[in-house]
Amino acid sequence: MCGIIGILGSHEVAPVILDALRRLEYRGYDSAGIATIHEGRLELRRATGKLMNLSDVLVCEPLRGKAGIGHTRWATHGAPSVENAHPHRSGRVAVVHNGIIENFRELREELSAAGCRFASETDTEVIVHLTDRHLGMGLGPVEAARATLACLKGAFALAFLFEGEGDLLIAARHGSPLAIGHGEGEMYLGSDAIALAPMTNRLTYLEEGDWAVLTRQGVTIHDSQGSPVQRAITVIDVENARIDKAGHRHFMAKEMAEQPSVIKAVIDHYVAEETEEPAMPLGVDFATADRVVMVACGTAFHACQVAKYWFEQLARIPVEIDIASEFRYRDPVLGEGDIVIVVSQSGETADTLAALRHVAGRVARTLAVVNVPTSSIAREADVVIPMHAGPEIGVASTKAFTAQLLVLLLLALKCGRDRDRMEPGHCARLLSDIRSIPGFMSQILDREADYERIAEVLGECDDVLFLGRGVMFPMALEAALKLKEISYIHAEAYAAGELKHGPIALIDKGLPVVVLAPRDGLFEKTVSNMQEVMARHGPVVLLTDAEGAAGAGAVSHCVVLPEVPEVVAPFAYAVPAQMLAYHAALARGTDVDQPRNLAKSVTVE
Ligand code: G6P
Repeated sequence: MCGIIGILGSHEVAPVILDALRRLEYRGYDSAGIATIHEGRLELRRATGKLMNLSDVLVCEPLRGKAGIGHTRWATHGAPSVENAHPHRSGRVAVVHNGIIENFRELREELSAAGCRFASETDTEVIVHLTDRHLGMGLGPVEAARATLACLKGAFALAFLFEGEGDLLIAARHGSPLAIGHGEGEMYLGSDAIALAPMTNRLTYLEEGDWAVLTRQGVTIHDSQGSPVQRAITVIDVENARIDKAGHRHFMAKEMAEQPSVIKAVIDHYVAEETEEPAMPLGVDFATADRVVMVACGTAFHACQVAKYWFEQLARIPVEIDIASEFRYRDPVLGEGDIVIVVSQSGETADTLAALRHVAGRVARTLAVVNVPTSSIAREADVVIPMHAGPEIGVASTKAFTAQLLVLLLLALKCGRDRDRMEPGHCARLLSDIRSIPGFMSQILDREADYERIAEVLGECDDVLFLGRGVMFPMALEAALKLKEISYIHAEAYAAGELKHGPIALIDKGLPVVVLAPRDGLFEKTVSNMQEVMARHGPVVLLTDAEGAAGAGAVSHCVVLPEVPEVVAPFAYAVPAQMLAYHAALARGTDVDQPRNLAKSVTVE
């Protein structure tokens, strides 16, 4: 949420910053801006909307200079406008900010009373006024920034640039991620490794409370007490930070298509060929655990909801799941025998990170299932289980979701084995079912024309209802989320058995009901609910297998999926759900990869 970048370069930096912002645009695209120092003078350009608009501004009014900062915004305080776009400037200082300054109202009142004029509605602007005032009191840039940091409450990653200081950047991290990049006679800072990948593969991740002074010669880092500290340099895999659409029209299309190979990569990482057991991480033994607690947000939370069924069925262990923003504030009952699993594609979601911090030291073990192994959540959990999905850029999560599902399924298998709840033969059979996933996913992906046809119908509706039972209930929740995220069609999901407790009042011929129902032990029950819909003239779109289609009666549309083993059915039904959302979005002409108001990495509460 908001991407920031800073460069002390040896060449003109504006084009390089613009390019880095392009790689950070998944964090927000409400507005963007760049500030540079040229011949000692601080100058900035800003534009609302996508980065392309800033690029156009720079064509008309180029920015010179070898030092600069840049920002792509996801609006929190103040509408997307040029005035509210970052960098913000007051006098000699410009700042870019990711996060929220929680005490900005008090600070703004004090500064206004002291005569400061505010040009924006943002929380960020207090930072530049404070710093400029500190400079006015005779402090140098480093001391002025430090004095400002001492006044701020909330979550922030900041970069400061000063007029007259072409070889100085100051960075600070408090609750929002920030990495320092090391170059040859150049230094960088950025919100993530992807931003800095073309410039350097050597990164230092700032820890909570750190602030750093960068010159072209290097960086000095201080902790929150102001003591100089050494932070390690991590060499990142630049290949893994490379992003392109590989010929697809959208990142989402590419990421959906990658799922068979991602699933295969997860299997290769965690299931040794010569054994019949998942080779899951060392140092986690579920044998003595009392309970599994899973916490996440958004799509990752839906993966946890599916996994609850697996852990309970395969390992007979009590499982609690919660949305991170609720979990952290409800004072949950925790025990020393709990294993807490946090799930996050980005590894930076503020609420999930806070939930992890809340349980640290109070439970037996914390596990992080993450896609970005250098992320804050990965660095703070006891055990990291990477999901190996590769960079996911489309805001709507697809391949990360199915990779999360698989890692959690393998953990459930390990849990079952650790607790002697599963015979080796049973585990081996389930692993063989798991090995079949890439094959059937490819088949399902190939049915594009079917999804397109149905999505055209959904695309004309204002509301869509999704129903499922058992694991298909959280899968229905995920299907509804995908559709509303990218097509802006209002979509809701219910456990099919809940239909009669409210949503049935909505059924009429204008409300399509998408039913996810493989021919499993719950199928007949779901068919009864479907009949209740059809009796009230609700059009039904059924996702099922051949046997299910034969027993379902006359639905409006049916997608016949391959028959797959019950335990891996969520992998089969994830694909049509994504495809229907994608094609409905295409039919409505929305922005698939960067849907309005959303951001990929949610680093504020
Ligand atoms: C945002 C994204 C979702 C994602 C959620 C949790 O809402 O748009 O796709 O599922 O955050 O993100 P995480 O990185 O923690 O999985």
